[in-house]
Amino acid sequence: MTSARPAPTGLASGARRVLTDNWTGSSTVPAPGLYPHQWSWDSAFIAIGSRHISPRRAQRELETLFAAQWGDGRIPHIVFNPAVPPAAYFPGPGFWRSSTAGAAAGAPRGVETSGIVQPPVHALASLLVHRADPRSSARHGFLARAYPRLAAWHRYLTGARDLGGGGLVAVVHPWEPGMDNSPCWDAPLARVEPAPPGTFRRADLDHGAASDRPTDLDYGRYVRLAADYRDGGYADGGAGAAFIVEDPGVNALLIASEHALAEIAALVGADASVHRDRAARLTAALVDRLWDPAAGLFLCRDVLGGGPIRELSAAGLLPLLVPGLPHGIAAALVRTARGAHFGLGHQTRLVPSYDLLGPAFDAARYWRGPAWFNVNWLLERGLRQHGESASADALRAAALETAVASGFAEYVDPYTGEARGTRGFSWTAALALDLAVAAGQGA
Ligand code: SER
Repeated sequence: MTSARPAPTGLASGARRVLTDNWTGSSTVPAPGLYPHQWSWDSAFIAIGSRHISPRRAQRELETLFAAQWGDGRIPHIVFNPAVPPAAYFPGPGFWRSSTAGAAAGAPRGVETSGIVQPPVHALASLLVHRADPRSSARHGFLARAYPRLAAWHRYLTGARDLGGGGLVAVVHPWEPGMDNSPCWDAPLARVEPAPPGTFRRADLDHGAASDRPTDLDYGRYVRLAADYRDGGYADGGAGAAFIVEDPGVNALLIASEHALAEIAALVGADASVHRDRAARLTAALVDRLWDPAAGLFLCRDVLGGGPIRELSAAGLLPLLVPGLPHGIAAALVRTARGAHFGLGHQTRLVPSYDLLGPAFDAARYWRGPAWFNVNWLLERGLRQHGESASADALRAAALETAVASGFAEYVDPYTGEARGTRGFSWTAALALDLAVAAGQGA
């Protein structure tokens, strides 16, 4: 309740309209043309915003996703809507074939999904959704049903996905950390033989400008990795994996979610200490394996290539979200966010996804420089958590102004705020609404 500024005109009503237009009756599409199904981390962020419109709808958003959880605990990154024509999105259900190719891993039979995952923001989202209306949550048994799902999800990540053996979660596809096209993946991805161009058809270019999207060569490699994972029955830890990376963003979100899961456990009468202990172990491993004091940032680690990836990505700032991060590290992260590589508070309107001074920086292209609203929402939360309330207030005001001025764009030029990607993007609307409510401007 600290911002003195008025709400940007049309913010709350515009955000509500986007979320209502994109609601299908059981979940919310990220954007109707480009992303016509349900996405995992999108739904978590969407629920964080839609809880202000209807706590029941936000519960439903998460429960629709949880219903597609696999027997091994993984929550798939896409849940396909059978009513959407197959050619509308690639790679669609006919590519992933989860109910058959994923049978050994426990893929559900009644719904088709992808076989990879996205960052675990779900326990944090579930706790925030519960808090929006604890009585409705209790009446519907929301947390009691969510808790075992979330616990199994975290067990999958910390068990089968500790592929580096050092106590962190590893990702096996560039889409898993959610920052699909980050320059961090360029070196590990260069080892992957691309699928031949004529063997698949991209649907994303029907809806997005080619200059805002990944290249065909990137897509060839994404397709090869996903097809190989599918053809191995979506088993983890096989000798054939060509891409294994430890990402600080994924691990920071897991730690934040593990803390949230401890609170959920206490609310449903389960043992919270398991989650607190796991959060502490993950935090120690994150600092030990990925903190780079010289860079003042957490770096990704290329497990197969055997070392840190020396690219500065906003993922490396996300551990600011971690409660209990050593104070010196949190202070260094704030300095890095404000420095020349990310420009927070002076050079940029919103924190860019990638190093402003990096060789691969591109202010327009998917995850190679543009600013994303989920990253900025997470950083706003992290800044506030570490006592940086003036910076958090300024970032919140900038995010609200940019969200509405860009038509709730998927991402924006970090310097100018100019819209990139698709418009009417659900998590932009949801997180702007959440920030507006926190600023007392949500009406
Ligand atoms: N973000 C990916 C896409 O662009 C997949 O998760 O379709």
